Amino acid sequence: MSKPWDKLIVALDLTSQRKINEVVNSLSPKVGKFKVGLIAYTKFGPKIINWVKEKKAEVFLDFKLFDIPHTMAETAKAFVDLEVWAFTVHLRAGRQSLKVLKEAVLKEAALKKKKVPLIIGITELTSQETCLKNVLNLAKVANKSNLDGVVCSVWEAKRIKDEFDLITITPGIRKDRGRDDQKRTAAVSDALENKVDYFVAGRPIIKAKDYLKAAEDLLNPKNARFAGIFCPKGCR
Ligand code: C5P
Repeated sequence: MSKPWDKLIVALDLTSQRKINEVVNSLSPKVGKFKVGLIAYTKFGPKIINWVKEKKAEVFLDFKLFDIPHTMAETAKAFVDLEVWAFTVHLRAGRQSLKVLKEAVLKEAALKKKKVPLIIGITELTSQETCLKNVLNLAKVANKSNLDGVVCSVWEAKRIKDEFDLITITPGIRKDRGRDDQKRTAAVSDALENKVDYFVAGRPIIKAKDYLKAAEDLLNPKNARFAGIFCPKGCR
């Protein structure tokens, strides 16, 4: 799993069915994973999962669950039914919620004879400035709760890999630092250098006219490399 295309997850943060179908049609099979979050799921419901699967692509369900143990566990059981590749939970929900959720997922998958989805913990949002220490502390919670991986920025991914056996998924992928809401941003070449397992891109691709060309441009390592480590608070 080393080619950049295999690591790319495209966020379907759209409310137009036509556009979602265009994005998925033009990018698959080169892109094998699409992220479905609250924007598209609220608009279309479980249908959107099927549109992705019809193209033989996998779904990364990003609802960032953050609730009491019972609510987290019951919701996650429904994710097992949806047969998604992975889903997200907030690590700040705490170890008790995460433990109960994980047990419920394993039990439900065994009962329904379904594949166990990967459980991915959100550390600090990439739209926020933070310290490496905060992200590592949350990664520790993921590790202790036996989750499969974490969402972090590119700039924390290597340290997390060194310390824990966790999959790293990194949003905030840009060709340049730009001026949108993402703060802990990085280029694809940075993501590859920092050995991330997967990186997520939404707007740089889905806002373009030609989705495939935008993805190719983003993935071309010659196109961008951020100068050195970018930690907005300078507190590494
Ligand atoms: O459009 P953009 O490339 O910023 O999309 C990034 C996607 O990743 C969005 O769907 C956002 O909700 C999600 N995400 C994130 N930061 C996290 C977790 C998820 O940006 N920590």
